Amino acid sequence: MKAVIPAAGFGTRFLPATKAQPKEMLPVYDKPTIQYVIEEAVASGIDDILIVTGRNKRSIEDHFDKSFELEQTLQSAGKDDRLKQVREITDLADICYVRQKEQKGLGDAIYCAKKHIGGEAFAVLLGDSITKGPTPCTKQLIDVYEKYGASAISLEEVPKEKVERYGIIKGREVEKDIYKIEKLVEKPLSHQAPSNLAIMGRYVLTPDIFDKIDETEPGVGGEIQLTDALQKLDSIYGVTFEGKTYDIGNRLEWLKTSIEFAMDDDDSKDDLIEYMREIIIENE
Ligand code: UTP
Repeated sequence: MKAVIPAAGFGTRFLPATKAQPKEMLPVYDKPTIQYVIEEAVASGIDDILIVTGRNKRSIEDHFDKSFELEQTLQSAGKDDRLKQVREITDLADICYVRQKEQKGLGDAIYCAKKHIGGEAFAVLLGDSITKGPTPCTKQLIDVYEKYGASAISLEEVPKEKVERYGIIKGREVEKDIYKIEKLVEKPLSHQAPSNLAIMGRYVLTPDIFDKIDETEPGVGGEIQLTDALQKLDSIYGVTFEGKTYDIGNRLEWLKTSIEFAMDDDDSKDDLIEYMREIIIENE
């Protein structure tokens, strides 16, 4: 299966940090966000990845490209660990790029992948969100796609007052944590939301989605919304992901995610706890 990573958005919620650099390249602890995303795809068995880019996104291509000078410098300096890390990034997967000419929304970004994908089902991983769990989120969706032969999307419960930020579903639970979706609404008002199950940025889609996107008129915010196109599919399943999804496009969540990921590193954990204690005492 191939994967598509949309990474062409303007990232307006994170300005000015994203004025000249893509939010997908913002580091979370010690790696750019999009590297975690690609690692998830690879851990799910995918090695053919198309990244949808736009203006100001060159650093994404540079990051996954080979850097001869850097490799040579590290080699001559005997920094073998660093050299290994740098080489691993380039060897992760076959990555190609397509440009979305105008930022007309997520649906439009995915439509740019039509030629590369052909007639097969494919995975979509948003370039500005990271997932963490016992099984990679995309792998869970691939399993549901294979079992039901239909598109599958990741879901997470969100507090009722936050539903206005997400695409929300109405569905019937057909087995534990798997819903047959009856309705999807993009950013509903909280009193109109059909549930508090939100679409979280990972999808496995059947190729008929391209025709559905083509038929979709601009929706919320004047953008071609993927949620509106998903609504037109004959059959679609939602999976409550056994793990957590982090939205890096939101600056507070980006900061919290960096701290959480640093806590997973034994070299940083104790110093970080000490530092946070000091800050808490200073601010009490
Ligand atoms: P978002 O809606 O979070 O991205 O899209 P955005 O528009 O960049 O963010 P804000 O709201 O202005 O801060 C989720 C993913 O889809 C991509 C983004 O790059 C992000 O990874 N995207 C979004 C596109 O590739 N093209 C678009 O036209 C819109």
